[in-house]
Amino acid sequence: MTDFASLLVPDRGQKARAIHLVDKGTFGDWAKGRGADDRSLLVAHRFDGKTGYASVILPRGGGIEVVSAVANASSLSPWCLARLAETLPEGSYKLAQGEPGKAALGWLLAQHRFDIFHSKKEPERGARILVTGEAARIDEAVRLAEATALVRDLVNTPAGDLGPAQLEQAVRDQASRFDAEVRVTSGAALNEGYPLIAAVGAAATRERAPRLIEAEWGNPAHPRVAIIGKGVCFDSGGLDLKNATGMRLMKKDMGGAAHALALFNLVAAERWPVRLHLLIPAVENAVSGAAYRPGDVVKSRKGLTVEIDNTDAEGRLILADALDRAAEGKPELIVDFATLTGAARIALGPELPALFANNDELLEGFEAAAREADDPLWRMPLWDGYDDMLKSDIADIANATGSQMAGCITAALFLRRFVPREVAWAHLDMFAWRSKARPGRPKGGDALGLRAAFALLSRRYSGR
Ligand code: BES
Ligand code: ZN
Ligand code: ZN
Repeated sequence: MTDFASLLVPDRGQKARAIHLVDKGTFGDWAKGRGADDRSLLVAHRFDGKTGYASVILPRGGGIEVVSAVANASSLSPWCLARLAETLPEGSYKLAQGEPGKAALGWLLAQHRFDIFHSKKEPERGARILVTGEAARIDEAVRLAEATALVRDLVNTPAGDLGPAQLEQAVRDQASRFDAEVRVTSGAALNEGYPLIAAVGAAATRERAPRLIEAEWGNPAHPRVAIIGKGVCFDSGGLDLKNATGMRLMKKDMGGAAHALALFNLVAAERWPVRLHLLIPAVENAVSGAAYRPGDVVKSRKGLTVEIDNTDAEGRLILADALDRAAEGKPELIVDFATLTGAARIALGPELPALFANNDELLEGFEAAAREADDPLWRMPLWDGYDDMLKSDIADIANATGSQMAGCITAALFLRRFVPREVAWAHLDMFAWRSKARPGRPKGGDALGLRAAFALLSRRYSGR
């Protein structure tokens, strides 16, 4: 993992190259204060303060300064320094005015790469930025970068290298940093206690066998918060097999689990007064003679019988047993993350997680937190009117509707059946993937909604 802490360092008067941030409003005045050489260089580069991510390097004796155009120089976005951090030569830098603030995150993440499979590694970028803010702010930016990089790395790791056993190991590695207790349920105990998780994972054996991974952290006397993540290490669709295009990215179907683990880390590191309960049902939705079948009926942990309409609607099945387990602990709040439906992507595209929640205050809090964290998501309805689409002829409920309509809503309504009414519950149906690279955000696995969820928990529990 990139050593982010070495790239965001306290300003103790070290030598550093200045970065001037301008926008289309401030560029004119700023340029007036420059010498003739600077001005002709800017003209030669057609730098006018407007162009998206443009920047120009200004010679200063033996050294350099940098001028870069941002959308709004007085309110920096998390990503407005990312392009610079990707391109500037190694060394120390400092904003000529103000502090990087939120933009520290993009500065850091721009220097992280997933390169474990490249035989020839590029050298570390090593662009350091100086900050005068309090140490706590630096730590938080570093931890957010680490959490995001953890999500990216886990999602990018191919399914062949990251099955349920490796996902379990990833949870154990992280939990040990916080002395969190880890419990893993598999084999006969899984068949007995978590029939839906066992059914979805039945086709995968040995080290790829299904399991429920749990971790707990914090004082049991504090309010309990359950964080759940869909951990489908590969989603072939099962017997309702996906086609080649549909299957191509399905190593990322454990993206929810990666988000849940990263959020658990972020909160435990803050030591807020909460009792965290992390639940990751980890399976591979595979094909074999032992696979669960369309038409099978499985009695869930909660006792509701579920008819399998489609083996590719596996995420909601494993989450159902996990939600029921989480509810047993009488949490004050449950948040789940899942790459649950293609329908959510058709509705909102790759960048906006669909947010569902069973109470309005939680919805509003989440939306406000998302704005605060510059981590957008969009509200979707738990529309009661569609509940009967999940009717089964022979069981209490079916896992899919057989209709193309409102797929992410009916998936969320399925989950709601497993959540007690009195427990506040939020569900994020997300993509966990970036299809097109942007500064600081390479193509591949990505955290979407993680900072929003962290900001939500901060509003509720940090006491700030
Ligand atoms: N993991 C997929 C959902 C998915 C697909 C997320 C593509 C992101 C991109 C999920 O398990 C699935 O296959 N859902 C089906 C449900 C359907 C069979 C009811 C879907 O959305 O098509
Ligand atoms: Zn599926
Ligand atoms: Zn899936």
